[in-house]
Amino acid sequence: MMISRTRSWIESSDVVSLFPTLVWKIQLRAEVHESIDASTLGLLHSLRQGLPEVKAGEAWQSGQALHRREELRELCDCVSRAAASVLQFLKIGAEAIEITGCWANLYAPGAAHRSHSHPNNYLSAVYYVRTWPGADTINFHDPRSQAGVIRPPVTELTSANTDQVVVRVRNGTLLVFPSYLQHSVDANAGSDSRVSVSFNLMFSAFTAALSKPLWGDA
Ligand SMILES: [Fe+2]
Repeated sequence: MMISRTRSWIESSDVVSLFPTLVWKIQLRAEVHESIDASTLGLLHSLRQGLPEVKAGEAWQSGQALHRREELRELCDCVSRAAASVLQFLKIGAEAIEITGCWANLYAPGAAHRSHSHPNNYLSAVYYVRTWPGADTINFHDPRSQAGVIRPPVTELTSANTDQVVVRVRNGTLLVFPSYLQHSVDANAGSDSRVSVSFNLMFSAFTAALSKPLWGDA
């Protein structure tokens, strides 16, 4: 209740949550993520053969078709299953959503990632292979740009009054979020490189069916 009920004019009060911004946080079981992590790190090692070392303050991203690599099949299966659950939660009828892009991120100590979103997809995901104290968070930014017009001081930061929510992650954490949602990563303050794998997902039948007018056949 937001309004004191000591005032006699109130029968009841409630806060109605409208248009919530949802981020799904899934922690893979240790035996599942340990196998995925070993396979992912093995793939990265082979992809980075012959490349210069990623120095402090630098970041490296792989190509964006890692979902076609056998080494990431188990991880891609987890992401696809998580996305299917999200669609079910959202009560979206289109059942087929597919990974359109998948790439690895290696951020050396000192490296940050500025705020961005992932256009032309419906869902995005990130899976954490190697996190460290000081390199174990991601920031999500309020998508309601007009909400920042007035920012009064607050007595306590909460998800209802802030323009940025910091989500803590650890090895084996999988986050799924709307692709439009701006996010950023603070400079790696850990002692070693942070390794993650990013995903974009889109409805398989988007051009065939979903992009048609919602009001029926033309
Ligand atoms: Fe991203």
